[in-house]
Amino acid sequence: MLSKKMEDAFNDQINAEMASAYLYLAMAAHCEDNNLKGFGHWLRAQNNEEVGHAMKIFDYVLERGGKVALKAIEAPAAEFGSPAEVFAKVLAHEQHVTARITSLYELAVAEKDYASQIFLQWFISEQVEEEASASEIIERMKLAGDKGSALVWLDKELGKR
Ligand code: FEO
Repeated sequence: MLSKKMEDAFNDQINAEMASAYLYLAMAAHCEDNNLKGFGHWLRAQNNEEVGHAMKIFDYVLERGGKVALKAIEAPAAEFGSPAEVFAKVLAHEQHVTARITSLYELAVAEKDYASQIFLQWFISEQVEEEASASEIIERMKLAGDKGSALVWLDKELGKR
C-alpha cells in the first residue's frame, strides 16, 4: 500500500507527465505550422512517450492499491519561437522533469518505500536519455547555424524517429 504522501506525489507526477505531453503536442503544432514536419513528427512522438510515462505511473498507483486522482492539465503556450528556441525549451523542460523525479525518489527514500524506489529508477534512467536526446538536437542545430539547407536536412532526420 502506498503512503498518502507517495500517492499524492505520484498523482501530481501523472499530471506533470500529461502536461509534458500537452506541451510537446503544442510544440508539434507550432513546428508543423512553420513547415517543419520532421520536427513536428519528433515532437508528436515525444507527446506519445509522455502519455506512456503518465500511464506507467497510473498503472503503478493502482497496482499498489492507491487511488488515481486526475487533475486539470495546464494549457501550454501556442508560440515557441525558432527551432533552436523550441529545443532549448524542450531541454529546459526535461531538466525540470528530472528535478521532479529526483524529488519523488527522495520522498520514496524518506518514506522507506523500497518498491517505489525501484520503480522510480526506470524514470531516472529515462531522464538521462531525454536530456541527452534534446541536447544532441541542440548541438546539431548549432552546427547547422543559419544555413537553411542544414535545417531542412535536420528536419528530415527528425522525421525518421
Ligand atoms: Fe516524462 Fe520527458 O519526461
